[in-house]
Amino acid sequence: MTQVTHRSHWTNRWTFILATAGSAIGLGNIWKFPYMTGVNGGSAFVLVFLACIALVGIPLMMCEIMLGRRAQRNPVDGMLALAAEANAAGIWKWVGIMGLIAGLLILGFYSVIAGWILDYVVRAASGMFKGMDGKLAQEHFAAFLATPLELILWHTLFIAMTMGVVARGVNAGLEQANKILMPALFAILLVLLGYSMAVGNFADSARFMFTPDFSKVTPGAVLSALGHAFFSLSLGMGAVMVYGSYLQPHISIARTTMYVAIADTAVGLLVGLAIFSLVFANGLEPAAGPGLIFQTLPIAFGSMPAGSLMGTLFFVLVAFAAWTSAISLVEPAIAWITENTPITRKRAALMIAMVDWLLGIAVVLSFNEWKDVKLLFGLNIFDTLDKLTTNIMLPLGGLLMAIFAGWVMQTRHVREELGIAVRAYALWRFTIRFISPLAIVAIFLYLFGLIK
Ligand code: PHE
Repeated sequence: MTQVTHRSHWTNRWTFILATAGSAIGLGNIWKFPYMTGVNGGSAFVLVFLACIALVGIPLMMCEIMLGRRAQRNPVDGMLALAAEANAAGIWKWVGIMGLIAGLLILGFYSVIAGWILDYVVRAASGMFKGMDGKLAQEHFAAFLATPLELILWHTLFIAMTMGVVARGVNAGLEQANKILMPALFAILLVLLGYSMAVGNFADSARFMFTPDFSKVTPGAVLSALGHAFFSLSLGMGAVMVYGSYLQPHISIARTTMYVAIADTAVGLLVGLAIFSLVFANGLEPAAGPGLIFQTLPIAFGSMPAGSLMGTLFFVLVAFAAWTSAISLVEPAIAWITENTPITRKRAALMIAMVDWLLGIAVVLSFNEWKDVKLLFGLNIFDTLDKLTTNIMLPLGGLLMAIFAGWVMQTRHVREELGIAVRAYALWRFTIRFISPLAIVAIFLYLFGLIK
């Protein structure tokens, strides 16, 4: 395939791993995963989620990195070039286009929630959690959601932080940010884990998350778990593909994938354990939903030793995680603009910032003024964006990538790019051709009510 010149690359494989882990580890692990586990009955959800990561997530992550690295282009032109190489139709570029759009839609709500996190950093640091009871925590959160202006300001700040990194480019921006933020994130996580083991109820937390109870595995929980496997590993929308496109040849895709998938899953599980052990130690409710870390955790921090410091650290951790994910949400669009037009990266970042800023305002309003505005499936704007991307666009993107790699591309090219041993390759290929697509299709059919 013809090569595109003037493209930046990661300095080495570790910066690629850090950046991809940075993309994967985000609000999905720390905000969503614990509350989804809480709502979906604990261990049952965790088990199905782990199965989805192993059967669909890991093979697909290898697939997406492979597509990106082979193409050495943004996801839209990349799919086009790969399709041409395989003598297939140019329509495959729509996988890239859909991904690009999904990234922008996700950032629309992601940055609003990340904005809440920034606000909670300040709240925790100023000692607001001290002595907080359930009623007060709820009132604070409700009052906060009822003030659009404040929410918009925080959302604006987060968009600015994201675009500030993206505008600087792959090496000076993405790579540099991840090199600083990710080690800091791991360090804070260790401190918080130690803290929750010391003062929390770790035993109940572990029981809640790991005692298998298959009676609680409902079809709805399976769909959520699959969608969340995609969301959590950043799959199906080209973020991993574009990161893969900055990867040099000869770096093992299989090995890097394992590091990223293990780090992402471990962070989800460890944060869940830490959060629930604080929740149980204070006799609070695990199934609090999206407000879990905003309404429930402050109560826990408010009554524990060094709670303000630990609460601050916790929200700083979440902010870092969200930041490194957000930059990967827009990178496919930025790469596409800069590789197709004379527009500079800075300008492109500004343009995308405007789009997502406006989208975020609509999301903010869906928590107050526009609470009753319903879009798809009778959901409000926030829920529509979340469900549309997580449960439909990402799995669909992943399904198409799997079909493309498994059935359309020439085996020779795929093998060359993956460079793994014969048996491992056979296993991967079988999974990507049959298991992953069938799992996704089965769940889609259920979603649309075709199988009950
Ligand atoms: N993986 C990120 C998280 O868990 C979200 C994300 C999804 C980022 C898709 C990029 C692409 O928070």
